[in-house]
Amino acid sequence: MTLKVAIAGVTGYSGEELLKILAYHPGVEITYVSAKQERSQKIQEIFPYLKGVLDLDCRVWDPEEACKAADMVFLSLPHSVSMASVPAVLKRGKKVIDISADYRFSEAGDYPRIYGFEHTDPVNLKQAVYGLPEMNRKAIGAARLLANPGCYPTGALLGLLPVHRMGLKLKSPCIIDAKSGVTGAGRKASKALMFPEVQENFRAYKVQAHPHEEEIKTHLGPVGWPGIAFVPHLLPVRRGILSTIYLQTEGPVIAEEVRKHAESIYAKEPFVRVLPEGSFPELAHVRGTNQCHIGIGFKERTQTLIVVTAIDNLQKGASGQAVQNMNIMCGLEETAGLR
Ligand SMILES: NC(=O)c1ccc[n+]([C@@H]2O[C@H](COP(=O)([O-])OP(=O)(O)OC[C@H]3O[C@@H](n4cnc5c(N)ncnc54)[C@H](OP(=O)(O)O)[C@@H]3O)[C@@H](O)[C@H]2O)c1
Repeated sequence: MTLKVAIAGVTGYSGEELLKILAYHPGVEITYVSAKQERSQKIQEIFPYLKGVLDLDCRVWDPEEACKAADMVFLSLPHSVSMASVPAVLKRGKKVIDISADYRFSEAGDYPRIYGFEHTDPVNLKQAVYGLPEMNRKAIGAARLLANPGCYPTGALLGLLPVHRMGLKLKSPCIIDAKSGVTGAGRKASKALMFPEVQENFRAYKVQAHPHEEEIKTHLGPVGWPGIAFVPHLLPVRRGILSTIYLQTEGPVIAEEVRKHAESIYAKEPFVRVLPEGSFPELAHVRGTNQCHIGIGFKERTQTLIVVTAIDNLQKGASGQAVQNMNIMCGLEETAGLR
């Protein structure tokens, strides 16, 4: 049976990526797409590469219309916008995958501090499942409301999971030095994101506080480390996130053991690749795929374990992972439509 899906926010970067994946997914029919602004255009006119593939109006977002047309609703909307639609979609018995941050924390009280807004749907926060399949596959299979992880947290958590599960002790805070391509900021216009500002430039941003630091800490769980410090940077490329994670260990660590542990944790994971000794990930190798590549090394002199991860922010960091989650939630082949 074909699964009917709706996409809200289809004209944004993550929404368009969902469209590109789902239009060719063997078990899915896209039956509703929407944006904020009225366009009076078909989706195949907005994105001409879809001519002959889809024939759909791009509508102004209306949860009721979406639910009439589809069984699964993807919300690729700005933070604080999704939570206004989720209750209406769940009430109509449909499943929801929210790509925004609106359901990534289970406590409504965390939102004013982390995101600067009051949460209006605390009841459904309690049933939302955090959608990192490598951590949470069983719960994802039973979810009706799925909180798709943030892009930076996906790269960081996949790198940290093996180290955390090994119970490694650290003598200083874990440092996550992460760099993202510009599509990570969305399609909205902003001076800081204009081509002349970004091209041949490189800068850190939100150094003091970024909500993704809280998301990483929350979903990694108690670690017993002196802390986690996350700093994001803006790379002059379109897509991809490279995260270099520094872990100063209490005693000597054999990188080979950490690598073997990571290989065993991820042995059956279709989208995580642990690289051989001496190899480290590159954005070019994951771009356009749902894969996460992980490289592991150890600096003897400073006793620092180095874990490097690379993902495509629009794929494993957003829409690819959302489709992976849809596949799990709906009993489809987990890798269907993805590479
Ligand atoms: N970009 C990434 O790498 C990435 C990764 C992980 C998660 N996310 C999250 O995914 C969500 C979407 O991100 P994005 O980068 O795709 O954003 P974006 O490029 O700015 O697109 C936002 C989309 O939402 C629509 N929209 C905005 N306000 C709306 C409203 N009030 N009602 C209905 N539709 C509305 C926009 O329509 P118009 O075009 O008509 O304005 C557009 O289609 C965000 O929550 C973001 O944090 C993004």
